[in-house]
Amino acid sequence: HVVAKFGTKADGKTDLSKASSIALNFPILDAWKEVCASVTPSTVVIPKGTYLFTKVNLKGPCKALIEINVQGTIQAPADPSAFKDLNWVRFYSIENFKMSGGGIFDGQGCIAYEKNKDPHNNVFHGVNIIGCDIKTSDDCISIGDGTKNMNIKEITCGPGHGISIGSLGKFPNEEPVEGIKVSNCTIINTLNGARIKTWAGESLGIVSDIHFEDIIMNNVSSPILIDQKYCPWSKCKINEESKVKLSNISFKNIRGTSALPEAVKFICSDSLPCQNVELANIDIKHTRVEPATSQCLNVKPITSGKLNLTPCSSPVPKTLSATA
Ligand SMILES: *[C@@H]1O[C@H](CO)[C@@H](O)[C@H](O)[C@H]1NC(C)=O
Ligand SMILES: *[C@@H]1O[C@H](CO)[C@@H](O)[C@H](O)[C@H]1NC(C)=O
Ligand SMILES: *[C@@H]1O[C@H](CO)[C@@H](O)[C@H](O)[C@H]1NC(C)=O
Repeated sequence: HVVAKFGTKADGKTDLSKASSIALNFPILDAWKEVCASVTPSTVVIPKGTYLFTKVNLKGPCKALIEINVQGTIQAPADPSAFKDLNWVRFYSIENFKMSGGGIFDGQGCIAYEKNKDPHNNVFHGVNIIGCDIKTSDDCISIGDGTKNMNIKEITCGPGHGISIGSLGKFPNEEPVEGIKVSNCTIINTLNGARIKTWAGESLGIVSDIHFEDIIMNNVSSPILIDQKYCPWSKCKINEESKVKLSNISFKNIRGTSALPEAVKFICSDSLPCQNVELANIDIKHTRVEPATSQCLNVKPITSGKLNLTPCSSPVPKTLSATA
């Protein structure tokens, strides 16, 4: 069991993402090289302290299970020009990977966000994201194309834009997204809660077997949302239909409060209506409008259990607003 530890430069100033040639005694790339080559399971420990990482790509394939145990804070530079291709800390081409330790990834997002607005997707397989507290000004978790068998649980999200599948259907040749389970999460004061978003117009895609379960919403503007007219910054063909096919999607045991009266919004594609969308045990209240309302376009939700709102109770406005 190899344990590679960082050295002592936890001063928040020395860039530890570079390969060491000189002073640093164990920057991340060296630690990675060692554990990735190990034929027995191994761990990289990032002890308490603040570590500056400008940009780091940690690439597999590796020979055995790898654990990154982050106890300290990994901090991005305040100047976002360091992220030329929008990656900061990137783990990829890795199987059997675990992140633990209860530490913090501090993207210094308030500073970086303004300059860093384009969407970017990474491809993941069989990944679990468990027990994280995520505060951001964009999606807490955004699941890109090619993601299969992902398990997300015990996440606290907010502020932010919720937990999203997508956005999808923007680029040609996107891989399907299949088998995503989001459970036991708490979403607080966010713009969206449980969301699937695909671009209006644009490219083909497939999204299926997506399940949101046991989720508490606390003052979320759009707690349950399928948006196939996704079009932030007017960068889409808003009058065309999404070409991403959505099927086998469920929202179960979701309770709490909605900041807007429309607690459930299913805006599906005219050319590819959503198939097999299920709502079960939904108890979402709005402070003034009781019961909360729900909008549906090109979908016939299947309902079961207790619902404190009537599915598809409200008309869908002709002009849909674009949200990020
Ligand atoms: C959710 O959390 C509760 C209480 O902590 C636990 O009993 C339950 O098994 C969890 N469910 C899932 C799907 O993890
Ligand atoms: C609820 O959400 C709205 C809209 O995001 C926000 O303006 C308001 O401050 C939030 N309320 C509380 C109690 O946090
Ligand atoms: C959706 O679920 C049905 C019933 O479980 C199954 O037969 C079908 O293959 C699924 N579709 C997709 C695209 O996964």
